[in-house]
Amino acid sequence: MKLSGKTVLVTGSSQGIGQAIALRMAQEGADVVVNYHSHPGEADDVKAQIEGLGRRAVAIGADLGSVSSVNQLIADGVTAFGKLDILVNNAGVEKNAAFWDVTEKDYDFVLNTNLKGPFFATQAFVKYLQGRKSPGKIINISSVHEDLPFPHFTAYCASKGGLKMMTRNLSIELAPLGITINNIAPGAIETPINTALLHDPAKLNALLQNIPLQRLGQPGDISSAVAFLASPEADYITGTTLVIDGGLTWNYSEQ
Ligand code: BGC
Repeated sequence: MKLSGKTVLVTGSSQGIGQAIALRMAQEGADVVVNYHSHPGEADDVKAQIEGLGRRAVAIGADLGSVSSVNQLIADGVTAFGKLDILVNNAGVEKNAAFWDVTEKDYDFVLNTNLKGPFFATQAFVKYLQGRKSPGKIINISSVHEDLPFPHFTAYCASKGGLKMMTRNLSIELAPLGITINNIAPGAIETPINTALLHDPAKLNALLQNIPLQRLGQPGDISSAVAFLASPEADYITGTTLVIDGGLTWNYSEQ
């Protein structure tokens, strides 16, 4: 087990990739703070599954768009198990709209959840680690769209591009504190964020044509990489993005 004795907070872990990460962390021996926004029932279910694995878990709700709520989440996470070693900024949302139709409400929802939340959760976590003079690890779940254009998802792409630069900047600023920070960039993973696409055969087929490995990714494809980046095996890795996309990003063919 890679994470025995560690405690981990995973934002947005009531479902999808976050849920898989929370469970994998527990399988690796960690106690887990499960965080949710809109799905308390699912979060309780994840908590029960983690306890079934013999680890401790707590489910805490938070609004990642509010700095006071994020600070409270980190504080409550620390209180739950007496310490926090690893932060996984996973929570993310997207809205499909032509650029000229994007509303302020939808822009704020996407940027607040995907960028402001990770920014201030990381800040609160770093302040906590500073006070305790402890090293730590931060893993952000970004997207291939931190680099790759995605028409009709401009706010989403802006948030993920911002997360990439946050990671690069902080890798330098946090290194003297013994804190590493990395991104994972999933491609098309089968989760609730993709429900509409999964039920549209034409769109799904077009997407699969772009994926050299010819399948959608599974949440487990991402959580295994998080387990690695969270472990001492990754101590010398910081400021980078690990792309997990079945080859999608650099796929180009003329035929
Ligand atoms: C998005 C999905 C999209 C995938 C591949 C992800 O970041 O959340 O909606 O299918 O990238 O384009």
